[in-house]
Amino acid sequence: MRSYLHFVVVIILISFFSPTQAQNQALAPENDLCLKCHTNQTITFLNTLTKRQDKRMMNPLYILNKDHLAAGVHAKFKCTDCHSADYSKYPHNAELKLEPLSTCLDCHGGDAKYAAYKFEKIDEEFQKSVHFQKVGESFTCSKCHNQHYYQAKSRNSSEVGEIVGFSNDMCMSCHSNNNKFLLFSNKLKPELSQIHDWLPNQELHFKNVRCIECHTVVVDSLSVSHNILPKEKALKNCVECHSKNSMLEASLYKYKNIQTRTEKGKLNSIITNKSYIIGAYQNEWLNNFSIIIFLMALVGISIHLIIRIIKK
Ligand code: HEC
Ligand code: HEC
Ligand code: HEC
Ligand code: HEC
Ligand code: HEC
Ligand code: HEC
Ligand code: HEC
Repeated sequence: MRSYLHFVVVIILISFFSPTQAQNQALAPENDLCLKCHTNQTITFLNTLTKRQDKRMMNPLYILNKDHLAAGVHAKFKCTDCHSADYSKYPHNAELKLEPLSTCLDCHGGDAKYAAYKFEKIDEEFQKSVHFQKVGESFTCSKCHNQHYYQAKSRNSSEVGEIVGFSNDMCMSCHSNNNKFLLFSNKLKPELSQIHDWLPNQELHFKNVRCIECHTVVVDSLSVSHNILPKEKALKNCVECHSKNSMLEASLYKYKNIQTRTEKGKLNSIITNKSYIIGAYQNEWLNNFSIIIFLMALVGISIHLIIRIIKK
């Protein structure tokens, strides 16, 4: 009973400090028509030649995920805000394929409402990147940022693991997928594990730091650096991260949401956030942790005592 009570107190404390999940928005009801086909493995439609209902396979690349749509920044959009209204007919008119789609800058460029994101500066940096330099205009922002699902993750998440996963998935969508890579290159993609074979514990690193940490330089005015440098300029020096003045403080750990949470709730940051990087925290971190464990035990014991006194 005693230990059970302590357990409950600890659980309550932990949940008190836990981050809240972003709420999914409702999708526009008009989208039901499109999503009836575009979220399913099969489609059913009236074949106007045979005058019969036909059931066919859906192209798997055109199947959208409803939950990801609802979590994205453009969740309130109708599909036809971006795509032609003629898509409401099926079979779709073949020429609709040729329709140019808006880019991020078309909608967000020069708009004071989104000034905080610095879209123009991001565009400027992106144009210096190896991707744009080597591939050219066809490498658009949307190749990394799916307009259907895009979220400003690093800005809004308070968990380092989630930020890293979200960001690296973008890079991996090509760098671990030959089919997509070959859209922009004549060579097969280099094997990531081989290129980075000098890095010990690769898997652990790729879970705890973003690719962009090593492949861009920090631009103070930007929340996320967009200039992917040529491979010769990538960061290889362990000490840049594994030292007391870790460069990660200026990149991955700089976000206000992580910092304020860290100040508000040390417990939360310890459970979910900054990894314990060898060299970067010395014993300070562990000290704080043990103090908190100690304080929690004290709280547990005093609640227990109070209950006993009341009972008596
Ligand atoms: C009856 C099922 C069905 C409905 C309803 C439907 N689609 Fe499609 N859509 C498809 C299929 C199947 C494809 C694959 C290409 C094809 O068969 O034309 C496709 C392809 C597409 C493409 C890719 C075109 C290309 O080739 O690049 C877009 C964009 C699209 N649909 C948008 C929409 C939108 C927007 C709506 C709603 C206004 C919609 N679709 C409604 C079945 C449907
Ligand atoms: C904010 C603008 C926007 C909205 C809203 C939007 N799309 Fe798209 N969609 C795009 C862009 C841009 C592309 C092309 C992506 C590329 O190839 O770079 C695309 C591509 C597609 C494709 C081709 C497959 C793919 O993922 O590349 C399908 C199918 C599609 N959209 C269906 C839909 C449906 C259904 C909806 C409504 C639920 C919708 N879209 C809403 C911008 C949008
Ligand atoms: C067709 C126009 C259009 C395109 C294309 C578009 N957006 Fe948006 N975007 C909007 C509108 C409108 C909103 C506001 C949506 C709302 O308030 O629900 C928005 C919201 C956002 C937000 C949230 C802003 C905030 O804090 O309220 C971000 C971030 C964003 N878009 C990024 C992007 C990125 C990155 C791209 C390109 C991959 C892109 N958008 C493409 C029109 C567009
Ligand atoms: C090579 C991949 C890649 C390309 C191309 C790319 N981005 Fe990003 N972008 C990222 C990554 C990774 C992040 C960090 C993800 C996150 O946590 O939001 C990011 C973040 C962002 C953010 C959020 C920044 C903030 O302050 O919260 C915006 C806005 C953005 N990108 C816009 C763009 C625009 C506009 C373009 C095209 C000019 C572009 N991106 C091209 C990879 C890319
Ligand atoms: C710890 C730093 C670090 C991290 C993290 C990192 N890289 Fe690298 N990467 C490098 C260095 C350094 C090189 C150059 C290696 C060389 O030339 O020997 C490199 C090379 C590359 C190359 C060039 C391949 C070639 O030879 O053409 C690609 C592509 C690449 N990295 C992608 C990624 C992706 C994607 C991620 C995230 C999953 C990532 N990297 C994470 C440091 C890093
Ligand atoms: C849409 C596909 C795609 C995405 C997404 C993508 N890349 Fe690439 N990347 C490529 C292609 C293709 C090349 C090879 C270009 C060439 O050599 O012609 C490349 C090359 C590179 C190189 C090697 C540059 C050199 O000097 O040879 C690095 C480093 C790299 N990418 C890092 C990243 C990082 C980091 C991300 C995520 C932020 C990312 N890439 C996202 C397609 C992609
Ligand atoms: C971009 C920053 C960065 C760079 C560069 C970097 N590391 Fe790391 N390293 C980390 C992070 C973050 C972790 C994850 C800590 C954790 O969660 O255990 C880590 C973990 C490790 C671990 C595993 C520790 C454990 O708990 O098992 C070793 C070993 C390591 N790094 C060695 C190196 C070496 C050697 C180099 C240079 C070749 C290097 N790192 C370069 C950030 C970096």
